[in-house]
Amino acid sequence: MTRRTAICGGLVITASDEIHADVLIEDTRIAALAVPGTHSWSADRTIDATGKYVIPGGVDAHTHMELPFGGTFASDTFETGTRAAAWGGTTTIVDFAVQSVGHTLREGLDAWHAKAEGNCAIDYAFHMIVSDVNQETLKEMDLLVEEGVTSFKQFMAYPGVFYSDDGQILRAMQRSADNGGLIMMHAENGIAIDVLVEQALARGETDPRYHGEVRKALLEAEATHRAIRLAQVAGAPLYVVHVSAMEAVAELARARDEGLHVFGETCPQYLFLSTDNLAEPGFEGAKYVCSTPLRPREHQAHLWKGLRTNDLQVVSTDHCPFCFTGQKELGRGDFSRIPNGLPGVENRMDLLHQAVVDGHISRRRWIEIACATPARMFGMYPKKGTIAPGADADVVLYDPHAEQVLSAETHHMNVDYSAYEGRRVTGRVETVLSRGELVIDRREYTGRAGHGAYIPRSTCQYLH
Ligand code: URP
Ligand code: ZN
Ligand code: ZN
Ligand code: ZN
Repeated sequence: MTRRTAICGGLVITASDEIHADVLIEDTRIAALAVPGTHSWSADRTIDATGKYVIPGGVDAHTHMELPFGGTFASDTFETGTRAAAWGGTTTIVDFAVQSVGHTLREGLDAWHAKAEGNCAIDYAFHMIVSDVNQETLKEMDLLVEEGVTSFKQFMAYPGVFYSDDGQILRAMQRSADNGGLIMMHAENGIAIDVLVEQALARGETDPRYHGEVRKALLEAEATHRAIRLAQVAGAPLYVVHVSAMEAVAELARARDEGLHVFGETCPQYLFLSTDNLAEPGFEGAKYVCSTPLRPREHQAHLWKGLRTNDLQVVSTDHCPFCFTGQKELGRGDFSRIPNGLPGVENRMDLLHQAVVDGHISRRRWIEIACATPARMFGMYPKKGTIAPGADADVVLYDPHAEQVLSAETHHMNVDYSAYEGRRVTGRVETVLSRGELVIDRREYTGRAGHGAYIPRSTCQYLH
């Protein structure tokens, strides 16, 4: 028997429209939208959305649950991380499976499936981190694209760990030009950065703030430029992850003006935090160590502008939490040993709504950069990222007037601090459905580990 849920009286916001409409869900999918009072649906359950926004569940295209890094592991498991995501109005994550050097892509992907399967509260998909480009890996990329892992992250940073040289990058790009995959680039000149790290430490510059000083904006811009030109030579599209420097935004803007298929992502931490946080006294700055690093505040305006002009298309979190106690502390006396990454999967939709309140972006742009575009970029649209007949019933009731204070005391991420501790935001998630099932019901968690399903993806939907 079909189960019908009606969501009535809200303002439905998608990337393209804002309409006062009721939404009918049949089982796991959206069946219809209609103007209130014009339909006679018989629903088993009616959810009152009066005064609320009805928005597509967030799509966070950049998370690292349980990532091994710097001798430890990101502190959120797929269970805790996807539950926190749901609390924050995100109903799909795309996490990064890791190929370790000397191993196959398949081994890495199998390992990530094993971590996630049966544990997720919301739906999930995978990108593949390629750390070892060789003939075997290149062939495996074709197979992965066919089975729904259609994007591959490479690193111009972290020599000796995830790093690929320009030749390896070019080969992977040539392969993706053929097989339809999308290369996602961590664009920082890691070879040069390691020289600066060594020199800083030799001068006794060991505090967290030096992490931001050695990972120079120019070295992000240089790598971004190089990645763009390598992709151009290969005839491949390119997606640059976690863009933080205004000089890197300028490289993306120029490439897009030239007509290249170049895309850019930024993250809330670059929009809301700065090197002031990295410079917090008493080793507190370690809480803000991530790569690319936080930048001086003046970069933020350029990121907002890029989001408005579509030189940047996506806001993901790069959620990669490490507890302050016992994890970030590994780098006391040597900033280069602080595990890189910030928590944020729970905060993205709220912080971007605050950007709407602050006038940086429109409501529809909020949904576009947080839901629709990531779904399209990574081959999940319109199943994910919108509210339309046939789409998965991943729906958030959002209260645009509720006030909240972000804090580790109240968040659900498995990490002992909040990067946004004490920040007041207007707007809060009220209710969340994932494929028609209530995961958050009026601020109560009703989800379960194992509800979340693996999503095989098609290729990037901006290329055809
Ligand atoms: O600092 C970060 N971003 N950690 C996660 C790994 C990555 O480079 O995305
Ligand atoms: Zn990265
Ligand atoms: Zn990342
Ligand atoms: Zn096509």
